[in-house]
This record gives sequence, C-alpha cells and structure tokens, in this order.
Amino acid sequence: MDITAMTKLPQDGTAWSELKHRLRKMKQDDYAWKAGRLPIFVYYYNEELLRVSQDSYIEFFSENALGRGKAFPSVGKLETEVIEMSTELLGGGPRAGGTFTSGGTESIFLALKTAREWARKEKGIVCPKIVMPLSGHAVADKAAGYLGMDVVRTPLRSDFRADMGLLRAAIDERTCMVYASAPGYPHGVFDPIEEIGALAKKRGVWFHVDACVGGFLAPFAREIGYHIPAFDLSVPGVCSLSADLHKYGFTPKGASLLLFAEREHQKYQRFEFSNWPRGAYVTDTFQGTRAAGPIASAWAVMNTLGHAGYREIARVIMDAMERLAAGIEQIRGLRIIRPSDLCILLYDSIDPSVDIYAVADCMDEKGWYVGKSAVPKAIHIALNPVVVTALDNYLFDLAACVEHVRSTPGYTPASVSAPAIS
Ligand SMILES: Cc1ncc(COP(=O)(O)O)c(C=O)c1O
Repeated sequence: MDITAMTKLPQDGTAWSELKHRLRKMKQDDYAWKAGRLPIFVYYYNEELLRVSQDSYIEFFSENALGRGKAFPSVGKLETEVIEMSTELLGGGPRAGGTFTSGGTESIFLALKTAREWARKEKGIVCPKIVMPLSGHAVADKAAGYLGMDVVRTPLRSDFRADMGLLRAAIDERTCMVYASAPGYPHGVFDPIEEIGALAKKRGVWFHVDACVGGFLAPFAREIGYHIPAFDLSVPGVCSLSADLHKYGFTPKGASLLLFAEREHQKYQRFEFSNWPRGAYVTDTFQGTRAAGPIASAWAVMNTLGHAGYREIARVIMDAMERLAAGIEQIRGLRIIRPSDLCILLYDSIDPSVDIYAVADCMDEKGWYVGKSAVPKAIHIALNPVVVTALDNYLFDLAACVEHVRSTPGYTPASVSAPAIS
C-alpha cells in the first residue's frame, strides 16, 4: 500500500476501505498508547466505556451545538444536564452555572475574559493583571496574551505550592484575578485554595481555580478515603473553576467545563453582537459552530460511570500511584519527589553517575513516551488506567535503563532532547 504524502487533492476519489487501511497504517509509528506507553494525551478506561463514548458521539455526530437553543433542544438539554451534574459534584450552590467548552484552554480563556470584563465594569480596571503561582498552566499566559492582560507569576514554596506571602505582595490595584491550580500539571500538587480564596475575597479580586486535571478525579479520590484539600466552588472566594471532562472525566476530546459560583457573572463571558446584516449573534463560547458529539458523549459517559464507576477509576489510579512510587524507590539511585497529591508523580536521580534525562531517553528508545520536567530536573508521569496496565513492564525497563546509564559513562542517546510537550 502506497502511503506517500498526498500534496494535491486527487482527481478521483478512493474507496473508503483503502483509505481506512491507509489511516491505520499512518498510526504505525505513534506511541502504543493502548499498551500503556503514553502517560499523556490519551485517557482510557476500558473497551466498554470507549464504545459508549464512541456510539453516543456518533448519535450526535452531525448536530451543531451553536443551534442548542432552537434547532437542537436535545443538545441544549444534554449540555444543561452535564453542567448541572458537574456543578453539583464540584460544590456549586443554587446560583452556580457554567459552560461546556472544547477543552481546558477554552475554559481558561473564557475565565480570563470574564474576569477582565468583570473588572472593567465593576472595578474600573482597564489594563488588568493576573497574579498566579509559577506552577499555573502555560495556557494562562497564552490566553492573557490574546486578551491583552498581564501575568505576574510568583515563586513557589519548597513543596511546590503557592507562596501566600508572595501572592499577597503581588496583588495591586491593577490585579483583577488570582489563579491557582488543583492540582498543577508540573508537580501534581494542590495550591492552598482556601487561603487564596480568603485572600481574593479580602482584596476584592476574581479567583479562578484550574481543576482541569483534578475536577473529575479529586472528588472520587476523596470518596474512597484520600485526603483531598478543599478546592471547589464551595470554597469562599472561588469565582470560577475549570474542569476537563476529556481528561479524568474519560470523555472524548473536545470536552471541558467552565463553572461559576454565580451564574450571573456569565454576562461578562458572553459575546453579543448585532451590527451586521444578519441580526443578533450571541455566544458564550469562543467557538461558534460547535461539535455536539463531545456533549452527548460526556452525558453518556457520566451516566454510565456514575459515582461508583468514577470511584473505581480513582481506586485504580491511586493504588497504582502507590505501587509505582514503591517500585521506583526500589531502584538504586532514583528518588520520588514529594509531595504528590493525586495522579502525577515526579522522580529524579540522586546518583551523580545517572543523568535522569539520559534515563528518560533510554526509556524513549524502548518505546515509552517519557515526560521531562524542567524544574526540578526530573521525569514526570501522569497516571490513568491505561498506563497502569503496563506498570510492571515500565518498572522493569526503568531499572534496566538506570543500570545502562550508570554503566555507560557519557551515554547520550541519539534522541537527547530538552523537555517539551509534543
Ligand atoms: C492544569 C491544566 N490546565 C489546563 C490545561 C489545558 O487543557 P487542554 O489541553 O485541554 O486545553 C491542562 C492540560 O494538560 C492542564 O493540565
């Protein structure tokens, strides 16, 4: 089968059977995510749930969520139910509300936009600034750049959490928002959300909690007995929270939520326009036309799993975290970097003859996608059930790589690379 690059639209069509074959062939060189070799990008529980997710997506494959009001009331109903189930789960009271978005990036973009408009209208701040700990996701700067806002990132405490003193000192009269994570992606730890909420309330600034990773895992880890600090909409001072369904909600990509403690604030998120010939155009999201598949699928997956199913997933992940940490600690020269609050683990080398990036590259050569943390210099792994299936093999190869690097002075694999997410 010829799968050379197609650079021109073909004159004639090709049969689907052949195209399908080509599509599958193109994936040959990707990391084997179903074999648990990719602890990033793909969240997978089991075949049964995948089928529910795919079938429900297909049911709403052609509908457009832009028409949720009139054309497709079904989509509106599904979206409302997903938002209501989630606000209830994440501490929202009777005045809470939210929006279904395409991902964490869009949720955070909209949170910043809402806070910017809120600050302009209610506080007269025209050139607004965001204050956040260094560990907040890169997307905050991406969104701030689009929105003409400034970001001040404050150094972390030694346990990687926000330093309250530095955060407090960074807030000034231009600050419209404080942003913190539950947990942050770089280190997997929760910022002190209650303390930051109290600070935000006292200083009269918007407080956004980025629970893109924790939103659909932390409540269930708590239900099975793990200590999870307060982080949701019930915390005084929290104005908005982002939670990704397409991560630990196990729904298809293109699914996240931006939730508000006060749905009244959504007026600042909204885009309303009528100065064109077609009349009024109103959207709450960045996107206009929106796929309805992720909404239907989120609804189906959430109703398939319920609390019991999500609890079971949390158990698999939390058990695996303990097993992985214990396994790594058995390997001479490696050390777990603590704390780790939920599903993300970092480890480094305490043996000067073992460079942890060289270990990462050796693992890469064995077919494992290995995340490199820049600060601290470490390996970064985020667990989900598909990764868990390969844990024993991972630990076996890891021990072999550490020995290989130790016994091969100057070992520099062909692929030595700087830390990057791609
Ligand atoms: C804490 C956190 N916030 C936001 C995002 C961005 O989410 P997305 O990639 O869905 O846009 C991520 C992605 O990993 C994340 O870990």
